[in-house]
Amino acid sequence: MTLQNYHNTLSCKFTVTWNIHKAFIAQHGYALDVFTLLSSISWVVGTISQAYYAAGNAFQDAFVQSRRSLGLAAHSVNLGIIDDVGYISQNETLSSRVQSRSGLPRIGEAQLHEMLRLSVAQQTAGPNQERAITDV
Ligand SMILES: NC(=O)c1ccc[n+]([C@@H]2O[C@H](COP(=O)([O-])OP(=O)(O)OC[C@H]3O[C@@H](n4cnc5c(N)ncnc54)[C@H](OP(=O)(O)O)[C@@H]3O)[C@@H](O)[C@H]2O)c1
Repeated sequence: MTLQNYHNTLSCKFTVTWNIHKAFIAQHGYALDVFTLLSSISWVVGTISQAYYAAGNAFQDAFVQSRRSLGLAAHSVNLGIIDDVGYISQNETLSSRVQSRSGLPRIGEAQLHEMLRLSVAQQTAGPNQERAITDV
């Protein structure tokens, strides 16, 4: 890992997340009703040579807990490998390497859409509905 790799990866996870969080409160005067973060399951299970990526994803999950403790909407989705859209789907070598090193589950775009739908529903539903959605 180079220092530049570390900063690049943390920047798109940390700085961008923090900027969105702050911008809506400081500049627009209101908090977001829905704030879904795309984290990765890789930091939970541990994948070889991805310490900086793990740090970024761990930050996202912790950030969600922090926002929720302030009564603000937030939800993090720990994705596996997405087959047909996104960065990994455009790079076959990377896709094979991540798959062989991690054994992560693969999902398709339709499943991703469904996860995002449930994430939004979970943040906008009342307590009783939230339980029902979580139980699905
Ligand atoms: N693809 C997967 O299999 C997979 C698996 C697990 C988790 N995830 C997570 O899902 C998220 C999206 O992944 P992806 O595969 O869709 O990646 P992607 O195709 O590379 O898209 C990344 C997006 O982030 C934007 N971005 C990157 N750095 C930025 C910065 N510093 N400031 C503002 N915007 C920035 C890019 O903007 P531009 O288009 O302008 O460059 C692009 O729209 C990531 O957080 C990733 O960790 C993906």
